[in-house]
Amino acid sequence: MSAHEIFTIIVLFSVLYVSVNSRSVKAARDDPLDMTLHNEQGLMSVVKRPTTDKLACWSTPVPPYLITHPCFSTGSDVQCRCSNTTQDCSSNFGNLTYIPKLFTGVQVLNFSNNGLQRLTDERFFVNVSRDVWLVDLFNNDMAYIAPRVFRPLHKLRTVLIGGNRLSYEALRPVFANPTLNKVDIKCGGLGVFPDQYFHKTPAVNVKYLDLSWNNMGELDMSVLQPLSSLTRFRLWHNKLYQLKTAYFPFLEYLSFHENRLFDFPVTCRNGTKDTLFPSLNHLILDYNVISTIPDPVCLPKLTVLNMMYNRIVHFTSSMFSAIRFPELKKIEVTEMEGKMKKIEAYAFNNSGIVYVGLGFNRVDFSSDVVDGDFLAGCTGLTDLFLNENNFREVSEERIHRLLRPVGELKTLYLGKAQIQRITSKTFINLPNLTRLYLYENSLQFLPDGAFDQLPNLRLLAIGENRISKVSSTAFSADTQRRLTGLDLSGNPFDCSCEIMWFQQWMMSKPRQFKDVRSLGYTCANLHNMTVSDFTINPQSCLMDHNAAVLVIAFICLYLFLFSIITIFFGYRWHLRLWLYAVCRVRHERSRRQLERQARGFRFDVFLVYAEEDMKWVENELLPVLEDEWRLRVCVHQRDFVPGKHIVDNIADCVDESDRVVLVFSPHFARSQWCQFELKYCQSCVMDRDDVMVLVALEETESRDMSSAMLAVLRTTTYIEWADEEAARSSFLGRLSLALNDVVQS
Ligand SMILES: *[C@@H]1O[C@H](CO)[C@@H](O)[C@H](O)[C@H]1NC(C)=O
Ligand SMILES: *[C@@H]1O[C@H](CO)[C@@H](O)[C@H](O)[C@H]1NC(C)=O
Ligand SMILES: *[C@@H]1O[C@H](CO)[C@@H](O)[C@H](O)[C@H]1NC(C)=O
Ligand SMILES: *[C@@H]1O[C@H](CO)[C@@H](O)[C@H](O)[C@H]1NC(C)=O
Ligand SMILES: *[C@@H]1O[C@H](CO)[C@@H](O)[C@H](O)[C@H]1NC(C)=O
Ligand SMILES: *[C@@H]1O[C@H](CO)[C@@H](O)[C@H](O)[C@H]1NC(C)=O
Ligand SMILES: *[C@@H]1O[C@H](CO)[C@@H](O)[C@H](O)[C@H]1NC(C)=O
Ligand SMILES: *[C@@H]1O[C@H](CO)[C@@H](O)[C@H](O)[C@H]1NC(C)=O
Repeated sequence: MSAHEIFTIIVLFSVLYVSVNSRSVKAARDDPLDMTLHNEQGLMSVVKRPTTDKLACWSTPVPPYLITHPCFSTGSDVQCRCSNTTQDCSSNFGNLTYIPKLFTGVQVLNFSNNGLQRLTDERFFVNVSRDVWLVDLFNNDMAYIAPRVFRPLHKLRTVLIGGNRLSYEALRPVFANPTLNKVDIKCGGLGVFPDQYFHKTPAVNVKYLDLSWNNMGELDMSVLQPLSSLTRFRLWHNKLYQLKTAYFPFLEYLSFHENRLFDFPVTCRNGTKDTLFPSLNHLILDYNVISTIPDPVCLPKLTVLNMMYNRIVHFTSSMFSAIRFPELKKIEVTEMEGKMKKIEAYAFNNSGIVYVGLGFNRVDFSSDVVDGDFLAGCTGLTDLFLNENNFREVSEERIHRLLRPVGELKTLYLGKAQIQRITSKTFINLPNLTRLYLYENSLQFLPDGAFDQLPNLRLLAIGENRISKVSSTAFSADTQRRLTGLDLSGNPFDCSCEIMWFQQWMMSKPRQFKDVRSLGYTCANLHNMTVSDFTINPQSCLMDHNAAVLVIAFICLYLFLFSIITIFFGYRWHLRLWLYAVCRVRHERSRRQLERQARGFRFDVFLVYAEEDMKWVENELLPVLEDEWRLRVCVHQRDFVPGKHIVDNIADCVDESDRVVLVFSPHFARSQWCQFELKYCQSCVMDRDDVMVLVALEETESRDMSSAMLAVLRTTTYIEWADEEAARSSFLGRLSLALNDVVQS
């Protein structure tokens, strides 16, 4: 994008904001209604009711209007300034009553705001160069002009002579000049044209006539017909209520800005379809009281029609259709007086129209006042001005519907339209949208990717909404790069960590950010602080809200795991034991199960004990083993086969029992048979692992023990018996664990 384009955009921005929002500053010095097509769009709608203060009655500067040095001064304050083509003695407010002799070669003579009350005779301009083509005689309190006073100025083309006290008769010498091209008689207190006023005039070359700020009231344009070259005619502010048109073959520009016209001017020749204005391309009728445009309309060349501030409250179908306005490009129907009644379907059925201004009409676009197809047929539209209407209740579907016919739209004005929310889809059907104005709405946030769907968007104005946060996802990197102008000023920013990314964007691309109304990018939550001045410790911003939530979640999880682990650590041995038991038992059980199936033991347990401990065995152990656990127990008194040798009996019992429970006690140590049984079992351990289960009845002194017992005790854990109740159940628990697989099966 070239610097020139950027400049244009900035200027546009400023002009739009300033002029749309400040409604009374317009003076009539320049020509704001000159809405030529090369004006940037949107400017059309900035035309405002001019004030009638003194400025309105000053002449319009002629460019280029260069003055370089002072060139005449009397003792008092009278001064003239000159360049080699210009002599400017203006604004001496009655101090200068003659034209001083200065230098030859002057072409432009500005004598406005002086005291030339009477242009007395032919010699009046004797001090003036014959090359003068423009004389500005505004505001001289002039009442008389001698008949042939302009005669010597052979090259005179422009006479600016408003703000005087000249009657039509007194003005005749002006129009007596055959070279005259442009006449400006604003603020002359003129009334209705006398009949046939120009009839005998030689001023056939007048192309431009401005009679604004007079008191015409009525106008029969046929009086102007002798000015056969007339191209531009301006009649602002003349209390004109009655207008009769006539044939003007060369008239291109006609302005009746701010009058009292009730009727749209007649444009067809009496009852036919022949045009009265074959060349007219601008028709300015703003600030009148016209309520309709009746058929027929004969304006074959009209490109710009300004009907702003009239009383059209019913836009009928085909009102601006191509049949009535074949060349129409711009139509301004902004700010109608009175409540809008209806905008019918196909009101703008004209594919040639590129600009429609419908702003300031306070129309509720969600209601059926506006037909969903009101823009149907307006397929060439590129600029749509809808500021200051009511879009509060307009749904997204409705927006899509309304804008469906105008898919080529490039500029859309929706400022001050009470819009409360937009989504990334709101404008999705407008791929060519380049400028979007959404300022002074009620938007509270920008959705993710709000404008990412608009590949051509360059200019975005969303100032003065209620946006407090701009999330980083609202503008994709592409969109950020694409925008050349972004105005978010006047929003109540919430300055916190979340604004930092936006601040960085602002800092890195300051030219991208606009603030055309100087509202600033201020922090609403902090006193007297702008977004760019806002600082915050970056550490505290390292994590945003989400990250914080995540971190807290992690900490909780960690604490939870930590406490669990601590508990486990405290019970690690128990755990290990448990795990061991589980694993071992599983493993053992399956092994033993196999073995048992293979061997088919006759007994589950062989009880080995000393004679002296028999009482304990019978009272304490056997009832549990046999009755409770339902084990088959071999006890030598009972189960040894009589007649067999005792050694064979022992060997058989050991071999045919799954386990051997040895009840250690001092008696056991002294019993020969017990020692024998122990030794026999020890020999079995080689083949059958874990065959022995040791039960220690009482503390047995090691010196009492046999070497075999000591060896077993060293390698095998034993289960101790004690008489207390708790110890007893612990004993049984451990024993059952030791015999686990046997008990279960
Ligand atoms: C003459 O000078 C006055 C200021 O004194 C200025 O407003 C006016 O535009 C000038 N006239 C022309 C034709 O430039
Ligand atoms: C005005 O005078 C300057 C020298 O003072 C000269 O260079 C310039 O060409 C003159 N301009 C015209 C339009 O005569
Ligand atoms: C003469 O000019 C001065 C300023 O230049 C002004 O104050 C004064 O009113 C003028 N005199 C008249 C009679 O207008
Ligand atoms: C011509 O200028 C001179 C002085 O510059 C002045 O005295 C004389 O009155 C002027 N003539 C007219 C007709 O204004
Ligand atoms: C317009 O036409 C009517 C008849 O149709 C005629 O009476 C009237 O004189 C015509 N007016 C002009 C100005 O031609
Ligand atoms: C719209 O205009 C086209 C051509 O300009 C015409 O054919 C069509 O009938 C019009 N539609 C309506 C509804 O007026
Ligand atoms: C609008 O955009 C489409 C593609 O998105 C393109 O083909 C078309 O030429 C554009 N129209 C204008 C007027 O730029
Ligand atoms: C706001 O701050 C600026 C400087 O940053 C200071 O000049 C101005 O006086 C302050 N205004 C208020 C109302 O504190």
